[in-house]
Amino acid sequence: MFCAEKRENMTFEQAKAKLSGAGQEHLLRYYEELNEEQRENLLRQIEHLDMELPKMVEHGVKEAERGVLAPLGAITLDEIDKKRESYETSGIQAIKKCKVGAVLLAGGQGTRLGLDGPKGMLNIGVDKELFLFERLVGNLMEVVEKTGAWIPLFIMTSEKNNEDTVTFFKEKNYFGYDPRYVFFFVQQMAPSVSYEGKFYMEDKDKVSTSPNGNGGWFVSLVKAGLLDEVRKFGVEWLNVFAVDNVLQKIADPVFVGAVLENKCVCGAKVVAKADPNERVGVLCLEDGKPSIVEYYEMTDEIIHSRDGEGKLLYNFGVILNYLFQVDTLVQIVEQNLPLHVVERKIPYINENGEYVKPEQPNGYKFETLVLDMIHLMDNCLSFEVERDKEFAPIKNATGVDSLESARNLMKKNGISF
Ligand code: UTP
Repeated sequence: MFCAEKRENMTFEQAKAKLSGAGQEHLLRYYEELNEEQRENLLRQIEHLDMELPKMVEHGVKEAERGVLAPLGAITLDEIDKKRESYETSGIQAIKKCKVGAVLLAGGQGTRLGLDGPKGMLNIGVDKELFLFERLVGNLMEVVEKTGAWIPLFIMTSEKNNEDTVTFFKEKNYFGYDPRYVFFFVQQMAPSVSYEGKFYMEDKDKVSTSPNGNGGWFVSLVKAGLLDEVRKFGVEWLNVFAVDNVLQKIADPVFVGAVLENKCVCGAKVVAKADPNERVGVLCLEDGKPSIVEYYEMTDEIIHSRDGEGKLLYNFGVILNYLFQVDTLVQIVEQNLPLHVVERKIPYINENGEYVKPEQPNGYKFETLVLDMIHLMDNCLSFEVERDKEFAPIKNATGVDSLESARNLMKKNGISF
């Protein structure tokens, strides 16, 4: 009889050899206490550990060097207004033909907010219950009602929050959305390290991992087999958006139409900077290709440079709302994105085997970011939107970009909550 060959795990000795050369033997500290299954789990994780990651923090964290930057103008609010009708008609036509899908990035951990569960389950209401997920689905429903067409909605979760997210949507009856158009997929994870570059453990048999950033969303969607669904529906464009912007417009027909009419392969919603030093990623050109450059990667001279009319040349910040052409995504799916090292609070077990939830950042996570996908595109339409109408993210517990600031903006926009 033909039997499939059983794949053998790495042995304890092999794991020890792999780790000791890199000063990571502590991962085997509890090995003796583990049962057979736990031992196998741990050895499997060690086998797949990327030992290059800790090296990225050994000599301090450095971001990759940037190429030659040049400004990239946006189509501004005035220009959009002049063409609104035409853009909207084109967008509605595309949506009616099911050419547009939406991708909700909900795999993050919301560590700045200090949440335990999925951020989308946050109740942002005061007079009534209003969950972030509910608010976003409601926004998408407005377009469904306007166009009379369901928009396939792909929701990215992580190992940490998938079960809670899926259960929540089911319990809440998908907030009125047609479940035949809702698809969940789980993103990949990456290990976390201490400031000294030691891998953290989150249990005696488990290396600490966290979602590997939002840059892998398309790879994960493909791995989950959902490209078939995308193709089956005839979806040609995917609108990717964040979970925490309560004013998010999803599959906005005007935005879709503008990208189509301007014959671009992608589009990014942007807002004019509140002031030159605002801490946002700016959409510009890098070595002749569209790119998003963080405020700390720009020189003062670039930040303050102005055109003949005194307008800032690098004036448009991104709000994590992008439209990508599916065919182009397929072409770039194999290309690597830069890995960012992000300082975060990482729960771990200490030398005594006790679980510790730190109050302050204690190490680094490794992430790829969706914004780096823009540099893989031949062009990108920079599409200006009104900040007060479309950008109210909830990132922090208090102050800037918090629940309080988001509620103020919802009030300003006449949204009841
Ligand atoms: P953020 O960069 O704000 O990260 O994510 P976060 O995890 O939500 O919050 P912090 O930084 O820990 O406080 C922007 C968007 O990307 C998603 C988030 O869910 C959010 O919609 N995201 C982030 C993922 O889907 N996966 C990730 O690995 C990271």
